[in-house]
Amino acid sequence: MNEKTLFDNFAARSAALSVETDEPEVLLPVVSEVYGRFFSLWIRQSMDKKTSENSTILYWDGLKGFRPVDPHSLEEGTPVENTAGFQGAVQHIQETIQNEDYETQGVVFMIAHSKFLWASNPAYALAFEDLLKYMNYFYQGPARIMLVGVTGELPPMVANMVTAMDMPYPDGDAIRGLLCSTLDKAPKDIPVALIDAMRGLSHRQAAEAARLAGTHRSDPLSALDDIIAKKIEMLRSVAPFVKFMPVVNDPPPLIGIEGLINYAKRLKAVVEHPELGVSPGGGLMLLGEPGTGKSSFVKYLSHMMKLPVMVFSFADIMGSLVGESEGRMKKVIQATDAIGPVIVQMDEIEKQLPSMKGQASDGGLGTRLVGMILPWMQDVFDENRPVIFVATSNMTAIHNLPPEFLSRFMTFVIDEPDEQDLASIFTAHLSRISQEVYDAEALAKALLKNANGRKPVGRDVVQIIRTAQANAVADRQENVPDMDDLLTAIQDMRVGMRELEAPDGRKIFAKPVKAKPLQRAAVKRSQSNPLPNAGLPDFSNN
Ligand SMILES: Nc1ncnc2c1ncn2[C@@H]1O[C@H](COP(=O)(O)OP(=O)(O)OP(=O)(O)O)[C@@H](O)[C@H]1O
Ligand SMILES: [Mg+2]
Repeated sequence: MNEKTLFDNFAARSAALSVETDEPEVLLPVVSEVYGRFFSLWIRQSMDKKTSENSTILYWDGLKGFRPVDPHSLEEGTPVENTAGFQGAVQHIQETIQNEDYETQGVVFMIAHSKFLWASNPAYALAFEDLLKYMNYFYQGPARIMLVGVTGELPPMVANMVTAMDMPYPDGDAIRGLLCSTLDKAPKDIPVALIDAMRGLSHRQAAEAARLAGTHRSDPLSALDDIIAKKIEMLRSVAPFVKFMPVVNDPPPLIGIEGLINYAKRLKAVVEHPELGVSPGGGLMLLGEPGTGKSSFVKYLSHMMKLPVMVFSFADIMGSLVGESEGRMKKVIQATDAIGPVIVQMDEIEKQLPSMKGQASDGGLGTRLVGMILPWMQDVFDENRPVIFVATSNMTAIHNLPPEFLSRFMTFVIDEPDEQDLASIFTAHLSRISQEVYDAEALAKALLKNANGRKPVGRDVVQIIRTAQANAVADRQENVPDMDDLLTAIQDMRVGMRELEAPDGRKIFAKPVKAKPLQRAAVKRSQSNPLPNAGLPDFSNN
């Protein structure tokens, strides 16, 4: 909620405004300030000289009814009689705004947590509709109505008379101000990293984080890790349907993606120098066969750029309740905008495709959600915001993606690794589990030869290593495979496999459950020769 928009809406006599938020008290000082400005302008322009310049906020909830609140201390005055019930409250507003004496008094009627009203009594919605119609067509005075707090979905008869406004997360300046007062430091002494880490927190949460930093007063930066962890925890509570991944510390190895790394380096430079005003530029789309390392690249990027990842998934956003999805989507966009530099991972976008194209069965929901994503990405791009969209897709379905979606990405294709890369992938993954030196070239050669005419990918290597490890465990209760285990695992990929054909014409190899277990591969490592270079076993007769 931007102050100017709020002012404009007061001036435009919107029948009512609504702000959905868990922390309505945060609104009070802002509304009071903006309304105060509006009100003094209003009385200056009105001919009536009797007017006072005092404006009040009358805050309503079902517990106490309307009472005046001090926007800063939150101190409450005596409740207005007979307003604890909603109908009494509406009547009070009506009497106030129709009373000539009151006409020139500045008052904002704030109605908190209206979501629960409409559900409890349909007559409430009718009474409120009546009031708003009056505001809309006949009322010229300065009083204004706001629905705040948990507003939920408004009843249809009032929805079109209420202007919904967003409750923003505290921005950099607000966070700095908060830290200044909590840490009792000058603005220039507030570490930028601390401010960045606190983006995306609600006001209450930011206050809590500032107090946390306050406990490390001599070195507030040492609270950073705590704050980031807390932030992810808190974002989870705001949008429990979205997965957040903290910065990846231990990225998976990735071989043969030099082009991508180059691109990522440029991205990193751009994000680290916002003052140069260069946009990180749209998104990154990775195409490739299954298992070529597309998802791993997101982890790699997170590690390299030191950015957290928000995992974006249509399935998670489409709530089980009708009408929930768009609200969820809004929360995602809000949270992402506030979180500061972040990677938004849209993994396996082709699998989310049915919903993206908008099936008749979802009432066009998919189309509407895509309709929210496209302008969001455009805004991020136009405003140079450090949100890095990384989408991944298998090759097969790429043509079905809506072109306007695709055109927002810089597209890369990841090829299957060649022999040399396969050898490096073996080495990279094996070195994570073992100190031993393996003949990776021999493994790569064997893999290529045994891949059933398919091009092997990184995932095959990982799976072979896993199978080999399992062999080592079963054979001799060790978790480090030797060459023999690895070669056997490779051979196991082909021997005794039956070829099946998938509906799309692809070949699938499956092992009949009756097949006998494979003999150990021909190469046996002798104790005296721990670094085998015994050459390739010949599997061709199997
Ligand atoms: N180029 C590579 N270098 C090192 N490891 C790789 C490479 N490609 C894939 N891998 C490994 O293979 C496994 C699968 O990779 P990943 O999940 O990233 O593939 P993907 O392309 O996302 O597959 P899918 O399309 O099925 O989602 C991971 O364990 C990863 O470490
Ligand atoms: Mg993947």
